[in-house]
Amino acid sequence: MTIREILTIPDPRLRKVSAPVTQVDDGVRELIVDLFATMYDAPGIGLAAVQVGVLRRILVIDVAKEPDEKEPHTLINPEIVAWSDEIGVHEEGCLSIPDYFEEVERPAGCTVTYLDREGKRCEMECEGLLATVVQHEVDHLDGKLFIDYLSRLKRERITKKFTKQAKRAS
Ligand code: NI
Repeated sequence: MTIREILTIPDPRLRKVSAPVTQVDDGVRELIVDLFATMYDAPGIGLAAVQVGVLRRILVIDVAKEPDEKEPHTLINPEIVAWSDEIGVHEEGCLSIPDYFEEVERPAGCTVTYLDREGKRCEMECEGLLATVVQHEVDHLDGKLFIDYLSRLKRERITKKFTKQAKRAS
């Protein structure tokens, strides 16, 4: 088990489209163990493989409120197949954009299909925070970030701030 480094914007890998997993093998399961360890360590409630630089369609999510009541979800090749008409607003953040939070409007519910860590096809109906996190994480697999839903001014301001920080650190 390894806690991996989480990429932050403006790392160009975060804008890439991740490739589907063709076989759920031990390599994939090892990566999933690392993703959970990295997410819990951060701490965060969702993490996509691309955020540790692995461009494959794998997500881990845990929105449990109590740290000792874990509810881990592994979603491989997730696909959102239905959205509710109702819109919900949640304050979102992202481990790749640390310490920045903004309200984002998304469908309040969604249905997602995916393979679990055994390669079994599953379907999950999501509401509330889980629906938001699933949509946020699936976006990562297509190179999309939650700041893309904000005004251009806000997006440019936060991108500029992180670009400056990255330059200073290098
Ligand atoms: Ni994120």
